[in-house]
Amino acid sequence: MSKSLVQFIIEEQRRMPGASGDFSGLLSDIEVACKRIAHAVNKGALIGVLGSAGSENVQGETQKKLDVITNDIFIESNEWAGHLAAMASEEMDDVYPIPAQYPKGKYLLTFDPLDGSSNIDVNISVGTIFSILRCPDGVTNPTAEDFLQPGTKQVCAGYALYGPATMLVITSGHGVNGFTLDSDIGEFMLTHPQMTIPADTQEFAINMSNQRFWEAPVQRYIDECMKGKTPGGREKNFNMRWVASMVAEVHRILTRGGIFMYPFDTKEPGKAGKLRLLYEANPMSFIVEQAGGMSSTGRERIMEVQPNGLHQRVPVILGSKNEVERVVEYHKKGA
Ligand code: AHG
Ligand code: MN
Ligand code: MN
Repeated sequence: MSKSLVQFIIEEQRRMPGASGDFSGLLSDIEVACKRIAHAVNKGALIGVLGSAGSENVQGETQKKLDVITNDIFIESNEWAGHLAAMASEEMDDVYPIPAQYPKGKYLLTFDPLDGSSNIDVNISVGTIFSILRCPDGVTNPTAEDFLQPGTKQVCAGYALYGPATMLVITSGHGVNGFTLDSDIGEFMLTHPQMTIPADTQEFAINMSNQRFWEAPVQRYIDECMKGKTPGGREKNFNMRWVASMVAEVHRILTRGGIFMYPFDTKEPGKAGKLRLLYEANPMSFIVEQAGGMSSTGRERIMEVQPNGLHQRVPVILGSKNEVERVVEYHKKGA
């Protein structure tokens, strides 16, 4: 019989002498949040949750009803238990402090409650991404500053994928494990132990409609992939995918390899990239690196970027090691 996430968490806790159980408790609360979100996403139009909420988030993006609902679910599920000092979300302007009636804990939680939300109305896979940091010593009322820790400081990161099956994929720095929700028993079961990303791939994912805005190194890389085995190209032909749900793309890469890019572009001057460092890039980079892949802005390792703001964006190039290394090499050479 495969192992449930609950059993997995408890067994992991036993391996850490002196563990207080706080981290295990927090993971269980996140698991509940993801099950609740899976339920809302799965019911869709039956419970009237599709469509726009008529509001905008701090980044000026129109919020879907489910962006707001899933954000509330994540907060409700995680604020009461005493494991967290504060939370920060893509969908909230500022840090969310733990309300006074609840005890405070030693961790900080950042999350993208619904990733790929442009896909929700068309019934294509979406996800949730989260990252756990330690609250700095002596801090009882964390501010945005306390969240500005490089990705290397993450204690744990994970995502839930609401696809044909609901999955939860987690790392706490000892490899990556994937669990599938068995809705008959209401438990996530370990179905994908120790996931690894092959070093080579023939599949790339990028939004080609932004091509004219890319820098020379990315232009060169994609141009060569497109040419494949013809002159000026590569030793192999490439295939392309673009789901527009980062969770789905990363999951595909963890399953069969690939390279995913949302690189720097000049489409909106002032934005360093599209994806957010604290809610998307860092947690996904932690997972990808733990699975043997690589993750870079093109110029530096994403997890070593010193964050300068809660909602900071970064270019993201991640996946199969040899391909990401090639793109980084092109950045070093200037093309
Ligand atoms: P979100 O729905 O949380 O705003 O994130 C969407 C992100 C990411 O998941 C995806 O890779 C990318 O935006 C898609 O962007 P385009 O619509 O520009 O392709
Ligand atoms: Mn997202
Ligand atoms: Mn989102």
